[in-house]
Amino acid sequence: MSVIFLDNAATTPLEPRVKEEMIRMMENFGNPSSTHLNGRSAKVEVELVRKRIAKTIGALPGEIFFTSGGTEADNMALFCSVRDLDVKRIITTPIEHHAVVHPVEFMSERGEIEAAYLKVNEYGDIDLEELELLLKEGPKTLVSLMFANNEIGNFNPVKDISDLCQQYDALFHSDTVQAMGHLPINVIDTKYDFLTCSAHKIHGPKGVGFVYVRSNLKIKPLIQGGAQERNMRAGTENTIGICGLGKAFELAIDGMAEDQRKVEELKKYIIKEVQLIVPEVKFFGRSGELDKSLYTVLNIAFPKLNNEMLTFALDIKGINVSGGSACNSGSSHGSHVIRALGSWTANYQPVRVSMSKFNTKACADRFLNAVREIYNTQVEC
Ligand SMILES: Cc1ncc(COP(=O)(O)O)c(C=O)c1O
Repeated sequence: MSVIFLDNAATTPLEPRVKEEMIRMMENFGNPSSTHLNGRSAKVEVELVRKRIAKTIGALPGEIFFTSGGTEADNMALFCSVRDLDVKRIITTPIEHHAVVHPVEFMSERGEIEAAYLKVNEYGDIDLEELELLLKEGPKTLVSLMFANNEIGNFNPVKDISDLCQQYDALFHSDTVQAMGHLPINVIDTKYDFLTCSAHKIHGPKGVGFVYVRSNLKIKPLIQGGAQERNMRAGTENTIGICGLGKAFELAIDGMAEDQRKVEELKKYIIKEVQLIVPEVKFFGRSGELDKSLYTVLNIAFPKLNNEMLTFALDIKGINVSGGSACNSGSSHGSHVIRALGSWTANYQPVRVSMSKFNTKACADRFLNAVREIYNTQVEC
């Protein structure tokens, strides 16, 4: 039985051209910190990737720092702004990724910051008026609100958030891990102080990403050691990973319009068909609304089955989807994002279908047929 992979918000398959680029770089074993020719040639490769990424998002090369992925990038933005930039309060929501939620909880429990959580409604929307009210008073603040949610796909109004942050002199960190490479993101049109990216969400390798840090922000390294990354992130660079990230980023940007068109069609198709098979389905957050959510993410709220094991039943049929985010898959607590949408969610099972350019209509049909079979053989609660 072939396996259908519809869990691309958890991770994406490596693009063959990214793999080729990484294999090419494996031949170049230089340490970018070495000053001899062997080291310099590795350094050139790393700097080329930095320059290309910076140019694409309207940043300066010196504002891009390579990290071990999205989690480290988010941690760097949060911990460094508290330690080095006098931030005393972080405003966020309960539906951020754990890479944001947990550092904020950690610092708040230690008394280092005040954590303020914006309310989200049953669709996962924030209220800008509530944000403005909070920003009007209070200590030096970092606002940490993601560009697009990894579980329900919702967009936050990042331009409006950024404008408010400027008006009230707050810093703005946006976790752009699910959006970078899928949608145009530019630090000139919207003023961000920190942005984050993870290569494995855009058909690149795992364990590599970057953080954008606006050049006027003087932070110190989170990871201490050598002077790599202009003294901002110690540790010998993951040169193969960085070149893989560079290629994945370039391919994502070049193919963005076409990939969006293709994946959006698939999402529209699943939305329409799944409602014919199980008319009681709903969609979590804004994921059922094309203009309000990531085209890659559809989180379907299925009425609960007797055995409550829908994702397991799908897995048996060779369909890889997620019941929460990948980071929650080993947890018995369910998804913190779905829970935050209100008590009504307890009667539904989330099935997050997340798509990539490698999915076809045949993949969608395999998923839909599996749902049909499961629902036809089960008696609902
Ligand atoms: C929104 C968001 N932020 C951060 C991360 C963490 O990225 P990484 O897996 O590269 O550490 C993820 C990964 O699932 C994510 O979806």
